[in-house]
Amino acid sequence: MTKLKNVRLVIANLLLKFHFTGIFMIDICATNHAEVNCCCKERGFYMEKLNGEALRTIDEIVARHKNQAGPCIEMLHEVQNELGYIPFEAMEKIAEATGSSAAEVYGVVMFYAQFTTEPKGKHVINVCLGTACYVKGAQQLIDRVEKLTGAKVNRTSEDGLFSLDATRCLGACGLAPVCIIDGKYYGNALASSDFTNEIRRIVREEKKAGAKA
Ligand code: FES
Repeated sequence: MTKLKNVRLVIANLLLKFHFTGIFMIDICATNHAEVNCCCKERGFYMEKLNGEALRTIDEIVARHKNQAGPCIEMLHEVQNELGYIPFEAMEKIAEATGSSAAEVYGVVMFYAQFTTEPKGKHVINVCLGTACYVKGAQQLIDRVEKLTGAKVNRTSEDGLFSLDATRCLGACGLAPVCIIDGKYYGNALASSDFTNEIRRIVREEKKAGAKA
């Protein structure tokens, strides 16, 4: 039984590594992930190599938590806070420090909706696609946000300013449809203009800041 479990973990680790290194995509990616429009990024596979500072940050976080109880979640939270996402290198280091496999750490990352393996934009917009919000027009909100920000659903806009995430029920169904902009909740977001106006305001501010820079 243990042997079977080990074999399953080895296979899961290999699949995980291939997922991140793009080995399964050699036949479709002619750019070797080197160009801005690499098809892999389009498909949601984030390929950027981490710089030395990010790797040092991960090492410090792992060293700080490795002897505590339940260290994996603590480390993941801190890595996400520091880097904005959880790169594969962090999962490998956390796995090594906690005596688990990278596949097990990846399983934890996938289980909790607040963790992401892709860098987020400067502004994160969540649109709830739970049942109550969906029937009250959440899809129209997603279309609206895509138009205003240039970000596709569950992706980041090319300028890196906006991430648009579709989420599960946010626990405020009475206010459906519900959205969040940078942590602030907006209820009745289709009927009220607050939500759309706030996005327009941010777009304006960012354009102004870009023009000055
Ligand atoms: S379904 Fe959207 S808050 Fe519950």
